[in-house]
Amino acid sequence: MEKPLLVLKNLSVSAGEKEILHHIDLTVRAGETHVLMGPNGAGKSTLGAAVMGSPALATQGEIEYRGEDVTDLSADERARRGIFLSFQNPLEVPGLKMSLFLRLALEAREGKKVRVWEFRKRMAQLMEDLHMDPAFLDRDLNAGFSGGEKKKAEMLQLLCLNPDLAILDETDSGLDVDAVRTVSGGIRRFLAQEGKGVIIITHTARILEGIEPTEVHVLVRGEMRAHGGAELLSEIDRGGFEKYLDAEVEKA
Ligand SMILES: Nc1ncnc2c1ncn2[C@@H]1O[C@H](COP(=O)(O)OP(=O)(O)O)[C@@H](O)[C@H]1O
Ligand SMILES: [Mg+2]
Repeated sequence: MEKPLLVLKNLSVSAGEKEILHHIDLTVRAGETHVLMGPNGAGKSTLGAAVMGSPALATQGEIEYRGEDVTDLSADERARRGIFLSFQNPLEVPGLKMSLFLRLALEAREGKKVRVWEFRKRMAQLMEDLHMDPAFLDRDLNAGFSGGEKKKAEMLQLLCLNPDLAILDETDSGLDVDAVRTVSGGIRRFLAQEGKGVIIITHTARILEGIEPTEVHVLVRGEMRAHGGAELLSEIDRGGFEKYLDAEVEKA
């Protein structure tokens, strides 16, 4: 059988003296959509950052990507191998055009120069598919973007870089119907390709409209407290995380 995209084995993650994540197990295979839910401060973003290789975090346990231990690899090297993390609060960079930012990121991912015309051609097709105004590329990175536009920029980045494992850390604010559609459409398009996997980090099920999760995980205070299917989403939408606050760890 094909190696899973990602295997976390007994992963604990600390920032300085503080252990944020405790003994996490998680397996993501090609074709799967995993949803990581949990209240504010549970450690969701930390999990994404640890998988991406944030230098601010120390890890114990294993992070395997396609069967390879990547714990000693830098974030750049992990990105080149096909891991992608979108930020919960994307950086606004006035003066840096989306087009240049994306082209540099693409060059880093592919390890070679990408000619401007070739890049423009690829992006034009992608933006047409995503029903995006091509003028978007000539705006400054995230500067003054609405919630929906930030999501469009995020999906454009995802589909342009075309990683194999995408971790999407979803913001809860400013997401209107349009943004939800952008995200779910982008994810569906990404997953329609062979060999891709997604982890969606969120604390509401709203962003998941039209996305069928393979598995839903509930993270509370740095521990995996529950695993389940789509039914967990609606349950949490109704009852919140209350019942998981004092729950025991549930083994994956
Ligand atoms: N670099 C860091 N240094 C110290 N504490 C951190 C760091 N990153 C995250 N934390 C702490 O870890 C906890 C989990 O944060 P986070 O992963 O952002 O939670 P979530 O995304 O689930 O809301 C919080 O208490 C946060 O303050
Ligand atoms: Mg977060």
